[in-house]
Amino acid sequence: MPTITDPSVTLRRGSLAFRPATLDDAAFAADVATASRPDEPEDAASWRHWWATDDPAWTNERFIVLRDGTPIGFARHKHAPWDQMKKRYGRIGFEILPAERTDAQLRTVFDVIEDRARSSGTRIFTGYAREDDDWLARWFAERGYREERRSKAWELDLVAQRGRIETLAAESRQKMRAAGITIHTIDRDGDPDKFHKIHEMSEEAASDVPTTIPHVREAFEVFVRWFDAPTVRLDRMWIAREADDIVGISVLSYPPTRGNVWTDWTATARKVRGRGVARALKLETVMQATLLGVKNVRTENDGENAPILHLNEAMGYTRIPGWVQYLKDATG
Ligand SMILES: CC(C)(COP(=O)(O)OP(=O)(O)OC[C@H]1O[C@@H](n2cnc3c(N)ncnc32)[C@H](O)[C@@H]1OP(=O)(O)O)[C@@H](O)C(=O)NCCC(=O)NCCS
Repeated sequence: MPTITDPSVTLRRGSLAFRPATLDDAAFAADVATASRPDEPEDAASWRHWWATDDPAWTNERFIVLRDGTPIGFARHKHAPWDQMKKRYGRIGFEILPAERTDAQLRTVFDVIEDRARSSGTRIFTGYAREDDDWLARWFAERGYREERRSKAWELDLVAQRGRIETLAAESRQKMRAAGITIHTIDRDGDPDKFHKIHEMSEEAASDVPTTIPHVREAFEVFVRWFDAPTVRLDRMWIAREADDIVGISVLSYPPTRGNVWTDWTATARKVRGRGVARALKLETVMQATLLGVKNVRTENDGENAPILHLNEAMGYTRIPGWVQYLKDATG
């Protein structure tokens, strides 16, 4: 299956049309998401990069939803190759402009995107809504979904917490030095194999994130596209090195035009866990953000990910609405 659907096939259902999206639609999609949650502006270039770097092995269909020829939102579904996903989990999702969120239109969007996912082989459907979105929560319930997991999202006030962060960072630096672990940004690491090492370590960690849908290994060629994202720079991506090994990473994503600065990924190698490496890395990312003039940063983790939730709390993050994962098992 192609990653972007055949641009010639527009689906029609009731009063709505579903036109396969192209990369040029990413900016509109980012605008719709922004209109849905104005406190979380979305950056067009970041969305385009995200869409452009789909894993070609996955099925990934996106549509622009039109009412009488006017774009009112987008809808999508995706899933891993079935030979790597024994239980057939597929993700569905959509964003509709707030003024267009009528029950009739949402029913059609659900019908179409579930149909597409089903005909692509999905048997267990999953979708997400922010936990303050009661309307969408009711809709998931009406469609037969139940709550599966809940993430916790957080914000750190870099102005109010500056003193505390500086103290914690100084403690962590001393601890890492004493342990022989070097913390620096990727651009300062001379190892020609560093990207492969970061990939392997990230894969190990990714399979340890609490999740319902099992992690599918990502090819190196897909993983490295991350480093081209407009939101990251090698001199802002922090890694931990112990002798020949890269044993941790933490990265903040900085949207170039609009949006909040979020943690993109924090991971450590199993063999160093519990030694303060993630704490040291995450502290460096927020220290750097402070120096760059960022006022607050955000982070989100699964509600069962005890070590990282503990770290967020210890660093002074406070809670903001997280995300609920809904799931509908249609295998029965
Ligand atoms: C989450 C993760 C990055 C933590 O890495 P780490 O190097 O072990 O982290 P640290 O040693 O710096 O800190 C872990 C903290 O959690 C605490 N902790 C560990 N297990 C805990 C538990 N079950 N409940 C509460 N706290 C726990 C530790 O005591 C430590 O706290 P302290 O610094 O106050 O002593 C690592 O487990 C990992 O890579 N997991 C898989 C990837 C992942 O989930 N990333 C998170 C983003 S999605």
